[in-house]
Amino acid sequence: MSQSYRIKVDAERVMGKIDSNIYGHFIEHLGRCIYGGIYEEGSPLSDERGFRKDVLEAVRRIKCPILRWPGGNFASNYHWEDGIGPKEKRPVRFDLAWGKEETNRFGTDEFIEYCRKVGAEPYICINLGTGSLDEAIHWLEYCNSSGNTYYARLREKNGHAQPYRVKYWGIGNEIYGEWQVGHRSAKEYAKVLREYARFMKVVDPSIKVIAVGADDPEWDLEVIKTAGKYIDYISNHQYWGSDDYYETVASAYWIEKRLKLLKSVIEVAQPSIEEKKRVKIALDEWNIWYRGTPENGFEENYALKDALFAAGVFIILHRLCRSVTMANLAQLVNVIGAIHTDKQGLYLTPIYRVFELFVNHTGEVALDALVNSETYDIEGKGFLARRKFKLKGVPYLDASVTLSKDKDKLFIAAVNFHRQEDIECSIILEGFSPGKEARIYELNGPDVMAVNDFDNPERVKITGKTIKNASREFSYVFPAHSATVIELIL
Ligand code: AHR
Ligand code: AHR
Repeated sequence: MSQSYRIKVDAERVMGKIDSNIYGHFIEHLGRCIYGGIYEEGSPLSDERGFRKDVLEAVRRIKCPILRWPGGNFASNYHWEDGIGPKEKRPVRFDLAWGKEETNRFGTDEFIEYCRKVGAEPYICINLGTGSLDEAIHWLEYCNSSGNTYYARLREKNGHAQPYRVKYWGIGNEIYGEWQVGHRSAKEYAKVLREYARFMKVVDPSIKVIAVGADDPEWDLEVIKTAGKYIDYISNHQYWGSDDYYETVASAYWIEKRLKLLKSVIEVAQPSIEEKKRVKIALDEWNIWYRGTPENGFEENYALKDALFAAGVFIILHRLCRSVTMANLAQLVNVIGAIHTDKQGLYLTPIYRVFELFVNHTGEVALDALVNSETYDIEGKGFLARRKFKLKGVPYLDASVTLSKDKDKLFIAAVNFHRQEDIECSIILEGFSPGKEARIYELNGPDVMAVNDFDNPERVKITGKTIKNASREFSYVFPAHSATVIELIL
């Protein structure tokens, strides 16, 4: 087949370390994400504390490194003190963000317990809508202080003597949008952010602060210039997708463009920040979202095409590993969710399988691989963002090449986005001598619209096999609409 498909790797071209936090997740008090998703009191599938054991097991399998909570939009009117202490005394509150009632039966202590159970770092997004600096400081004290203050003592009183050491704190959520409680201009937000970040770091200097970015260079520049000294990350949210196949998979490349733009904005703002400090990017909400509506509880069932988009995003995040050091899929369960539950069990969507593939079968060191591919041009539009994109030269084949920490394995993670054609690709490795036998992990399904469901939970899945012709130069045929990892032994 055509010589146009080629992946070339050079051992000397190391790009950097991939932060495992790019495989993070997000849970919001919305629909059945928390209640009926990760937490279902009284269910035979739950443990004595109310955590769904089947969901726990699935989350552990994808080694969730960091979990963002409690929103999203919900965060902007959440009073954390409603969610601590004896459950029967917790008030039911009306949630302005989504127009529903919140029982507060899942709160800070339950969230931390969940993070411990799955091995994730907690990431709390504070209330910048109806909340105050006092409330944020108290929340931080409740979580992290070992002092003698009222809130540190309150945590002890609630049965948690040891500080929770919550490292990641988001100062608000999507505050640039009129849908957000507490909506502000860039100037207004930047000033409030600077104050919150500065004084939260007085309480605990070790925390990492995530600022609200708007995927808008003017907003982002204002925020970083004003508060850059005190923030560690600027966030970016990306939702795309439609029934159009190529539009869906190509949108990953639009995300790449936007993240590169944000990286440039950070560079422009750099002179106004301290010399050594580098603000990183947190892509802390991303997914396909165009079918989930209030009527269906924001649930949509991801197809193979959506998984190929997600695999494309991970390849891009590997390339951007120096600047994007956190990403959180929105969301983990049911609500635009990677995992689907009902009262009897769960099934795993194709997007979940992408996490399974990348978390377990890619390495920590990113190499600057050359990927030659035929391309296409496309125009698309995001359903939610109501924005358009126009892209030239979108590849049919893309790949990331990573090395394990111990440098004993080389992983070629490739996506063949072509809807009909298999792609034969030559693979050239300079400075590596792999063994002949290599493991292959392939995520695929009967067609790009294929979904998993309770009746057919394995329509889209990962299959494994061994090849015996690996060497410094070999060829591999990547099947149509697949995400494949070739795991080479060095
Ligand atoms: O993830 C769903 C919602 O999308 C979040 O609450 C909000 O931050 C975004 O608009
Ligand atoms: O464990 C180290 C630090 O101690 C944590 O990052 C912080 O939250 C706590 O105060």
